[in-house]
Amino acid sequence: MTGMILVTGANGSLGSAALAALRAGGADAIGGSRTPGDGTTGIRRLDFDDPAGIDLTGVSTLVLVSAGYAEDDQVVARHAAAVDAAVRDGVRHVVYTSLAGAGDHLGFALAHRATERLLRASGLSWTILRNGLYAELFGGLLMWSADGAGVESAFGDGALAAVTRADLAEAAAVVAADPARHAGRVYELVGTPITAADVAGRLGVPHRDIGLGEYRRRLLDETPGLLPFQPPMLASIATAVRHGFLAGTHPDLTDLLGRPSDDPLDTAVAAASATRPRVAA
Ligand SMILES: NC(=O)c1ccc[n+]([C@@H]2O[C@H](COP(=O)([O-])OP(=O)(O)OC[C@H]3O[C@@H](n4cnc5c(N)ncnc54)[C@H](OP(=O)(O)O)[C@@H]3O)[C@@H](O)[C@H]2O)c1
Repeated sequence: MTGMILVTGANGSLGSAALAALRAGGADAIGGSRTPGDGTTGIRRLDFDDPAGIDLTGVSTLVLVSAGYAEDDQVVARHAAAVDAAVRDGVRHVVYTSLAGAGDHLGFALAHRATERLLRASGLSWTILRNGLYAELFGGLLMWSADGAGVESAFGDGALAAVTRADLAEAAAVVAADPARHAGRVYELVGTPITAADVAGRLGVPHRDIGLGEYRRRLLDETPGLLPFQPPMLASIATAVRHGFLAGTHPDLTDLLGRPSDDPLDTAVAAASATRPRVAA
């Protein structure tokens, strides 16, 4: 008997896909979101920045989708609020979407590892899904030249074992549907290695390496709208890929899915295509 599953971040890309996968498999699953809509979609209001308002009553398994995009203290406080509420409200098992072990050098790794510590100390049953970087992210981080004739990046020749969000969502659903089987397990969910040149090749354009200094300069000087924590975070991704720290593969993802993982190149190419400038003929 699995009991009710609640997936947080239900209006985000990963959370919505995990919830859909659970429901498609017949699970008793609801969502939690800062924007729950009118209450008819099986989504509960849930905002980690409002700890007193978190209601996990009736939830047996919590899929805690990380709520990043902020400084470490805010992210860890969000996750601590969710874990505290899980303990208080009688949740039995928490599935946390963390970061691949190879990502320890990344600027946002600490918040994930701190959350893993919180879970281990909580007394709850848990599973940690150490997600690799998204193929969507990799493609989206390639920068087009103004005329759309080529892509540029600071990834150099480095490869990323990129993974599609769809695969990660399905893996989360597989684990949440049978939590007892995955209790106390840490899964490394990475895909297959791709490079910026691979993406550029499929797009039929050249890839130009711009180096880390030029990349950081562009982030600081030419990328409006970035929050203060984001330039160092993005530069940390570039240097980790560039120097081969995120290229390693691992069997956990295909073992969980029971099938080959999606081709990350297709997804990265689609993401890069979506940002290509339209140049008048
Ligand atoms: N592995 C990677 O390459 C990678 C890349 C980017 C991000 N991430 C991490 O993975 C998470 C999921 O990725 P995604 O693609 O689904 O990102 P996304 O589409 O931008 O969604 C962000 C998620 O954060 C949730 N969230 C933000 N603030 C929250 C709060 N105060 N309380 C509760 N939930 C909050 C949102 O939930 P609602 O909007 O439904 O409230 C949403 O699910 C991200 O939040 C980030 O931590 C991983």
